[in-house]
Amino acid sequence: MSYFNWTSANEMGHPEIDEQHKRLFMLGDAVLESLTRLHEKRVAVAKINAFIAFAQEHFRYEEGLMKSAGYPGLDQHSKFHDSLLSDLRVHCDKVEWDPNVNPADLTNYLCDWLKLHIDLEERDLVAWLKSH
Ligand SMILES: [Fe+2]
Ligand SMILES: [Fe+2]
Repeated sequence: MSYFNWTSANEMGHPEIDEQHKRLFMLGDAVLESLTRLHEKRVAVAKINAFIAFAQEHFRYEEGLMKSAGYPGLDQHSKFHDSLLSDLRVHCDKVEWDPNVNPADLTNYLCDWLKLHIDLEERDLVAWLKSH
């Protein structure tokens, strides 16, 4: 079963950013799938950590682009990236250590995350990069 289906509607027209978002969708899918089998906690934690690692790489890439292009929203966007990463680490700790963890919390968070981050926060950024 697939949770995040990548379609052309998700593309913003920056090939590298689109490729990285597509990969985040795939890694997010693997996280959600692993959360349906929480008895294998180690697998879920590994999938979440893989998602976090690539999200970090992706954020560094975007921040580098914003810096070199002098993007005026750099600080705000970077803070947003930082808060996403710290939220994800909290969720990961809960999955690992909280015996009463509700996997739906992370599922919902990740669904919002991928939709909000990509649709709301990034269209402006890509439009700006293209015009500068
Ligand atoms: Fe971003
Ligand atoms: Fe992004």
